[in-house]
Amino acid sequence: MNEPEETTQVHIDPYERLWMILGAIVLVGFLLVVGVTALARGFVVPSPVARVDPNTVANSLPFSEPGLRELAPGKYEAFILARTFVFTPREITVPVGSTVTFYVTSADVQHGFDLQGTNVNMQIVPGQVSKLTTRFDKPGEYDYICHEYCGSGHAAMFGKVIVTP
Ligand code: CUA
Repeated sequence: MNEPEETTQVHIDPYERLWMILGAIVLVGFLLVVGVTALARGFVVPSPVARVDPNTVANSLPFSEPGLRELAPGKYEAFILARTFVFTPREITVPVGSTVTFYVTSADVQHGFDLQGTNVNMQIVPGQVSKLTTRFDKPGEYDYICHEYCGSGHAAMFGKVIVTP
C-alpha cells in the first residue's frame, strides 16, 4: 500500500514570517562583518601559545627579561609582562614597516592588551601566553592599554609603541 499522502501545510503568521526574515538578515549581516574583519582586516582570535605558571613567570625567561628582540631586519618579537598595574616594558620603539609579534602574559590577575589602531586586541589570562602579530606601516605612537578591569589602578595601566620614520 502507498503511504498516506502528506497534506500538512505549515501556516506561518505574516508577523512571524517578517521576524524570520529580519533574523536572517541580521545573521547574514553579522557573518559578513566577522568575515570581512577576519579575512580582510586581519582580526583573529588570539592564540594561547603557551602555558606558564603565573607565580614564577616573572622570574623565568623570556618574561624575566621582557622587551623587544630583533629576529631579522624589520622583524621583531615583543615580550610584555602585565601585572597590577603596569606593563613591562612601558615603551617599545621600532622603525616603520616593522612586523612585530607580541607575546603577553600576566603575573597576577586577568588583564587586557589593546594596541590601538591595529588588529592587536587580546585578553591576558594568568597562566597563558597570548600572541598576535601586526605590521606598522605608518609612523607615530600607538598606545597599548589594559581594557579588562583589573583593580584600582586599571585606568593607569598603559604603554606605547613608538614607530619611527
Ligand atoms: Cu590591567 Cu586593567
